[in-house]
Amino acid sequence: MLQYSESDSDNYRCLLLSLPLDERISSLSGYIKAKLVTFLPLTIEELSEAHKFQDIISQNDVSKELTQEAVSGLFVDFKKVLDLQFYPFEEQIDTIAKLASLLAFEMEDIWQPKTPERIESMGGEPKCWPWVLPRGLPAKKIKQSVVFLLSCPRSGSTISRLILGAHPQLFSPPELHLLPFSSMGEREAQLRDNGFESMRWGPVEALMELHGWDWDQANQFYDKQVEVDLPVSEFYGHLVDSCGDRILVDKTPSYAYHPEWLARAEDVFENAKYIFLTRHPYGMINSFVKLRIKTVTNNMFGPVDSDSWRLAEKWWYTGNANIIEFFKKIPENKRSSIRYEDVVADTENVFSNICDFLNVNFSSDILNPYDNNSDVMLHGAGDPNIGKYKKIDSSLFDSWKKTPPPQQLSEETKALAEYFQYPLP
Ligand code: A3P
Repeated sequence: MLQYSESDSDNYRCLLLSLPLDERISSLSGYIKAKLVTFLPLTIEELSEAHKFQDIISQNDVSKELTQEAVSGLFVDFKKVLDLQFYPFEEQIDTIAKLASLLAFEMEDIWQPKTPERIESMGGEPKCWPWVLPRGLPAKKIKQSVVFLLSCPRSGSTISRLILGAHPQLFSPPELHLLPFSSMGEREAQLRDNGFESMRWGPVEALMELHGWDWDQANQFYDKQVEVDLPVSEFYGHLVDSCGDRILVDKTPSYAYHPEWLARAEDVFENAKYIFLTRHPYGMINSFVKLRIKTVTNNMFGPVDSDSWRLAEKWWYTGNANIIEFFKKIPENKRSSIRYEDVVADTENVFSNICDFLNVNFSSDILNPYDNNSDVMLHGAGDPNIGKYKKIDSSLFDSWKKTPPPQQLSEETKALAEYFQYPLP
């Protein structure tokens, strides 16, 4: 059996991929146990694969803190050794056997995928959404300026947000997830009922930054707005007022997944401007699968599919197509489009045009987003790997070439890629 060895960890992922599934699972079980015993006062023999991990922990009187540290350490190691992203909610996987099987399956799905069937027609595919649609119009529209950065996820939206946020006249917090909701109470209930509690973080982080509050103070304020069921438009009003002379930038990729979520921006704001960010379909699809976004979004934001590559393609197509439709109703002077590939290759040029579009002077601060954003803004909700980078890295734009999508793209996707002038190999 292939044994994990710390000294040959670089090769471990490649070796695993060469094994039949059952051998890969056995080896991964051994790897998980070997890692866990480095954190926990347990022996490999005590870590039974089939028993519930929580039962083993309580039978051996291991503290909650140590267990948490071990699981977080394990997930960090998955990223380092297996190049696999795991998410906090996956801590609920209850046995080592299940975790090893999941790892084995996910590795194959990403690096040795089977060719999925081609999507025949986007319109004919099933769809599902988590939230009830926003009801009624806000009592009055907000007059101050606001900017929406619209895109599919995995399109460079976080680095673009940080570039904008580095400008002294812009305030660009982590993902706000506000537009699809009528009121803060209704929003909170829906986040909870659908398992998206983490979508609270963006607004809380925005409050921390705007008011200089700590996490608890910002949470208390946020909870109060939930309790009084403040209309979301008034919560936006609070954010915009607290920005002072700065303009709020709301970058939340999920807005692109229902036409009515996008339309709500014009109901709430009188003077919104929109930046449409696109990325090559292969880049976005590849990144979506590699980051295992299907497990986070759980087939709940429009497109549904059991195959992660087809799902990623549906996300690329649907988000972009919805934004194009939305833009047809927006006057030309309120909308602008940029491409991720140009954002990273020609940042100064792209964003000096964006500064003109937003009527703010160009500031060279935006060229150093990692120096000109606070820790809260740098590490908030969004790309979980954003901490990996220290500068705008133009070499990443075509990193998908190493693992292009296995499927033949649908005719609709190809036509949209052509519309954006993205060449398909
Ligand atoms: P990959 O996963 O292909 O690397 P989003 O923020 O919309 O989720 O997009 C994530 C993508 O932005 C990632 O794609 C990542 O490489 C890219 N990205 C993040 N930080 C970057 C940086 N500093 N320079 C260039 N690209 C960056």
